Amino acid sequence: MSAFAAPADFNIELSDKDYKEIATFVHKTAGINLMDGKKELMRTRLSKRMRSLKFNSFKTYFQYVMNDKSGEEIVFLLDALATNLTSFFREPQHFQFMAKELLPKWEQQRKAKNSRRLRIWSAACSSGEEPYTIAMVALDKSPYFGQGGDFKILATDISTKVLNMAQNGLYGPERTKDIPAQYLQKYFRKTDTAKGDKMYHVSDEMKKIIAFRRFNLMDPLPFKGPLDLIFCRNVMIYFDKETIAKLVEKYYNVLGKGGYLFIGHSESLSGFKHPFKYVAPCIYLKE
Ligand SMILES: C[S@@+](CC[C@H](N)C(=O)[O-])C[C@H]1O[C@@H](n2cnc3c(N)ncnc32)[C@H](O)[C@@H]1O
Repeated sequence: MSAFAAPADFNIELSDKDYKEIATFVHKTAGINLMDGKKELMRTRLSKRMRSLKFNSFKTYFQYVMNDKSGEEIVFLLDALATNLTSFFREPQHFQFMAKELLPKWEQQRKAKNSRRLRIWSAACSSGEEPYTIAMVALDKSPYFGQGGDFKILATDISTKVLNMAQNGLYGPERTKDIPAQYLQKYFRKTDTAKGDKMYHVSDEMKKIIAFRRFNLMDPLPFKGPLDLIFCRNVMIYFDKETIAKLVEKYYNVLGKGGYLFIGHSESLSGFKHPFKYVAPCIYLKE
């Protein structure tokens, strides 16, 4: 650590050289592209972490990151630079499609095989709103899958900070405002914090079916599938074309026949060579 502590409001300068070096590392490690005009974002987000560690130069902080044998500081660096914006029922068309088209079809197919197996992956789950929405919709529209313990949602993200929030499953009124009242009542417990704020805690029923894990989408998949559905929404916008192409291939391989990939509404697979069948905007099928 630097011997000279920076005052709390000290504006730490980021040189073009350090910016490029850190951006190249982040791109190589997490696929996140910070090369184009993200210098100020990098400066402000990392400054906060640097101040808490009493660094006043990006060069020495980055050396510290690289020399940290535990790898923990890399996690902090990526946590600080990832954009985690999310919400319950975000891009509701996907949940409507799931409720109307997929769940009735899957339920009919699985009943014929006497199976209750359902596997869904929320591949960049942020603070948990996406996987909990998936759970609510599936449990509500197809209680069949909720009985028997073979319905599982894997929820992964590169950021440990958001994963901790997701695992806690405690959300305030601002975050829960998009949840329909009947769902809020059925799948959350209202609690009061010590300060007297109203909070909503996810039900044990939902917690039981979701496993939260740290996973970097750049790494080889640590499981084989076959999966029924993958949500990979609003993360590929940060990746370059080559990274997206590789990721989409991994998704294709881990989905079962008849499995679906949902991507974010500002993302598109047009312009890529991929084996999926286009079904509707941001919905792809493995035939
Ligand atoms: C904008 S949020 C999207 C959350 C949710 N899927 C949604 O659409 O609301 C993007 C998430 O992707 C995660 N992320 C970024 N790069 C990643 C990587 N290489 N591997 C896994 N997660 C990553 C970020 O930490 C962040 O939580």
